[in-house]
Formats: sequence, structure tokens, C-alpha cells
Amino acid sequence: MILISGRGSNMEAIQKACVAEGWPASVVAVISNRPQAGGLAWAQAQGIAAVGLDHRAHADRAAFDAALAEEIDRHQPDLVVLAGFMRILTPEFVARYAGRLLNIHPSLLPSFGGLHTHERALQAGCKFAGATVHFVTPELDHGPIVIQAAVPVRQGDTPDTLAERILRCEHVIYPRAVRWFVEDRLEVDAAGVVRHLDGA
Ligand code: GRF
Repeated sequence: MILISGRGSNMEAIQKACVAEGWPASVVAVISNRPQAGGLAWAQAQGIAAVGLDHRAHADRAAFDAALAEEIDRHQPDLVVLAGFMRILTPEFVARYAGRLLNIHPSLLPSFGGLHTHERALQAGCKFAGATVHFVTPELDHGPIVIQAAVPVRQGDTPDTLAERILRCEHVIYPRAVRWFVEDRLEVDAAGVVRHLDGA
């Protein structure tokens, strides 16, 4: 199950890797809180159930999250993948999917959680930037880190050029992280650190 809000290029990378590499899993549905999201049409064209669930049609965050959970549960997924899903989730929602909710964030967490990550990395003079796949916990952009990719920041980079370089890495690391999960190769230890069971 993949949740998106926009173009869905990470969703696409995950679905393609799932098919090409023959994972022991399939994407059962894609849900977008923006019914016009380009990624939804792509998912539908692949024969994946594609659902638009407009957050603006719900009274508040709790009501939307409850409707979202209901829709997710209809598909009985083992894993819920947030791929450019631009909504803050209620603690109740996060608790419901604890341990089976992944997110990708375009920074090297724990630096630069939240929005405008590329601008902030450039403003801070970072020499490296990147992306992080992590398990979702109630605190925004925290949670056990599954995999990261770092890219160099180049002279003259703009937020857009940096975002593009990072996005290419996102398309590599997110499918890898999801594959590890569906192959049962990840474990979170008591300290909240992700262990790869086979040393991957
Ligand atoms: C990605 O950069 C992701 O890290 C961020 O939003 C962007 C989504 O892109 N959370 P896409 O919809 O997967 O193309």
C-alpha cells in the first residue's frame, strides 16, 4: 500500500522494482489525498487500485485520518509506504500502523526534518545532503532509520538542482528499503535502531 500526494516518482520506482525483481509482495493499492495527483493515473494504468481521498472533504485531521485508515484496512496491507505523502498524521494513525509504516524524507535525518529541506541544507552550507527512509513514529521525521543516501552539494546548486540529485538516490534507496521489509530482513532493536538481519 502506497500513499502519495503528487507525481509519485518514488511510488513508480517501488512498483517497478517490485515487478522487475519479483519481490514476495505486490502493491495492493495507491491512495492520494489529492485526487488529481499524477501518480494516481499512473498506478491505475498499471492495474493497481488507485484511490483519491480528498483531505479537504473531511472536517479535520482526525476525521481524514480515520477515513484513510478505513480505506487502507480494506486492502489489508502488511506495509504502508508514504511516498511524497504531504500530510502530518495523527498519533492515532501512526500507532495503528506502528512498525509497518515507512516514510522517505529528502534530508539526512536527524538534520532538516520538516519542509524546505534543500533550501535549508544550502543555507547551512552543508557539503553533503541526501535522503532517509525511516519507520514513522509520532514525532515528525523521526523514527528508526532504515537506509540513507548522501550526495555532494556542488558550487552553484539551487534547491532544484540539489533536489533532483537527491531524488535520483531516493529512487534507489526506497525500493531497497521496501524490499528488505517485505523479505523480513529488518528488525528494530530496543534502542530504536534498525538491524539488518542478514547484514545487508
Ligand atoms: C520526494 O522528494 C520525497 O522525499 C518528498 O517528496 C518528494 C516526493 O516525490 N517527501 P514523488 O512524489 O515521489 O515524485
